[in-house]
Amino acid sequence: MVHTDRRPRHPGAMSAQDRPGRTPRPQRAILAVLGCLLAALACLPVAQAEDGYELWLRYRPLDAEQAGDYRARFAQLVAPAQTDVQRVTREELVRGLGGMLGRAPTQAQRADRAGALLVGTPASLPAIARLGLELEGLGDEGYLIRSVQADGRAATVVAANTDAGALYGSFHLLRLLQTGQAVDALDLREAPKVKLRVLNHWDDLNRHVERGYSGQSIWDWHRLPDWLDPRYTDYARANASIGINGTVLNNVNANAQILTPMYLDKVAALAGVLRPYGIRVYLSARFSAPMEIGGLKTADPEDPAVRRWWRAKTDEIYALIPDFGGFLVKANSEGQPGPQDFGRSHADGANMLAEAVAPHGGVVMWRAFVYSDEEPDDRHKQAYTEFVPHDGEFRDNVLVQVKNGAIDFQPREPFHPLFGAMPKTPLMMEFQITKEYLGFATHLVYLGPMYEEVLRADTHARGAGSTVARVVDGSLEGHALSGIAGVANIGSDRNWSGSHFDQANWYVFGRMAWDPDAGARAIAQDWVRMTFSPDDAVVEPVVGMMMASHQAAVDYMTPLGLHHLMGRGHHYGPAPWVEGGPRADWTSVYFHRATKDGIGFDRTTGGSDAVSQYARPVAEVFNDPARVPEDFLLWFHHRPWTSRVSSGRSLWDELVHRYSRGVGEVDRMQATWTGLQGRVDDERHHQVERFLAIQRNEAQWWRDASIAYFQTFSGLPLPAGEAPPAQSLEYYKALEFPHAPGDTQ
Ligand code: GCU
Repeated sequence: MVHTDRRPRHPGAMSAQDRPGRTPRPQRAILAVLGCLLAALACLPVAQAEDGYELWLRYRPLDAEQAGDYRARFAQLVAPAQTDVQRVTREELVRGLGGMLGRAPTQAQRADRAGALLVGTPASLPAIARLGLELEGLGDEGYLIRSVQADGRAATVVAANTDAGALYGSFHLLRLLQTGQAVDALDLREAPKVKLRVLNHWDDLNRHVERGYSGQSIWDWHRLPDWLDPRYTDYARANASIGINGTVLNNVNANAQILTPMYLDKVAALAGVLRPYGIRVYLSARFSAPMEIGGLKTADPEDPAVRRWWRAKTDEIYALIPDFGGFLVKANSEGQPGPQDFGRSHADGANMLAEAVAPHGGVVMWRAFVYSDEEPDDRHKQAYTEFVPHDGEFRDNVLVQVKNGAIDFQPREPFHPLFGAMPKTPLMMEFQITKEYLGFATHLVYLGPMYEEVLRADTHARGAGSTVARVVDGSLEGHALSGIAGVANIGSDRNWSGSHFDQANWYVFGRMAWDPDAGARAIAQDWVRMTFSPDDAVVEPVVGMMMASHQAAVDYMTPLGLHHLMGRGHHYGPAPWVEGGPRADWTSVYFHRATKDGIGFDRTTGGSDAVSQYARPVAEVFNDPARVPEDFLLWFHHRPWTSRVSSGRSLWDELVHRYSRGVGEVDRMQATWTGLQGRVDDERHHQVERFLAIQRNEAQWWRDASIAYFQTFSGLPLPAGEAPPAQSLEYYKALEFPHAPGDTQ
């Protein structure tokens, strides 16, 4: 078949390049240079060209007044560098303070002037021990930052029980300067609420990244272990700056080769780079590895030879990597091998691996993303049905890792019913940072509000206030072990994440993993100040765009609780017409269930009864079409096209209204961004502007294709003032995208 390379273009969706009055690129570059020179002459702050590589750790010079104040406070740095962690902490402070203040602080063994910055632990720095600070309760990763009198002189102290805590505290202090905070009376205490804060790389060993939209895998297996790309160090710095303390290097659809000695040497080399930054390495384990690389005839977890094989393999890993974190496992899901292939349960499989890593202090993160192709039941219900009966059977170093919603990282999902339903098991949250279902890397969608919505959702498992955050941080049931995982959006692209704004999703993931109760807006403010500009004239409009962006994408893709309507396989663009193929629950029609009478998946007690998997107060709300949050209306209910919604519109009119509202929001984002020209460096401004043009075009495509399709069921006219789809339904159905990135291999 000849593949077409057609991307829908709409009348009026003019590219920024085509736009009248826009200066051609080379001329613009010359004008930009001239502009910079003039600005420099006028002593105005100059926007530097930037490619995004430095993420939020740019440490650009602060304005003179602020720098002068900070310089006096941080004139001298007293930070021991006896260990690797201490050494990288000091390096970061020198780099950050030097960059922002125009000169690095002098370094000393002990504070001998006013304006010293003391960094360390009572054990590493006697001056900190003498201060007698309250370090109890900070654990082994927390810290305090305080303005003090040290030996009779004004000083600032970053103190912790461990080197790692002092590293995190140092990044926090740098953030205070990057975001322009007052530092004269500091009194901050921070400790992470979640123990394991982990990135999951879905990176294959051939460097393809499943659902990756930012180039290839950053792990250069061919040149490892001898060549340690400096990018690994910058990756570690970025992660440490937001508190991430673990990384799973390979795809959950795992290749057993990663467990062979050749690859383990490479993994050990990476672990060596990440270790000084407090980051442990984990691996995705393929359950059938004993057969594939171990020469055994079975991978049955009850078979003594299999158990021996995993113990020996684990010992081999720990001999190379003494602080190895443990295994992540996708088993009996989407064709992956698992214990059920041998008549055993998920608990049997997880416990076998847990037993192998336990003597070394490792954990097993066992994924609950399972659904069977032989099971006719609503896919929404299957993970709960499968896992709840095993609550209490998992060893105490097993965490069950649960996606935020029951289907699969859809633009918006109600929280997964497993949260709150397995009190005896630590449940780890799995968020997706890469935007498989949210426009890949070209749509500006800030995920902070989405993470916040899920974490603040109330499971009512132990009465009101039993939020998902409290399940995940372990406080609801008193679990010592807790974790949050994020499927990484990091790749070999110069800007790491495929777009400048997708860096914010990596950033907010880390901050919320540290504190699941943190607010998406405040985090966005920090990120914009550090990444683009501390100028309020930039921060406020950009944060406004970011905060509205998730709702906008939900509106133009899957409003009112619709879900799973994207292109087959690659998941790019709208395809609500997808039907047939190997399994019903990989089609769109399975999920939207549109007919002449109405639309939506009936998951009420009269339908699939998925609602009953939630605690009663939640189930009652979701079950009632009058009380269910409208954002989830069609997730739980099949509703007539002419039924009324809260706006007073009919369901059909509301659907069309929301599609258009989403497109309109992208218009506003474009206008806001255009207005920031000159306040943001030209290089990044240009790329964001171009990507917004793509997003605008694709938002229109989602709206038009969806309306054209659903109108064949509703048979209703468009509400007054609504433009008809630009093309016929056949046109949209015929589009093909052989180049769409990130598909499974
Ligand atoms: C989604 C995604 C797959 C991935 C799977 C998982 O289905 O499309 O690429 O493997 O999730 O989380 O395991």
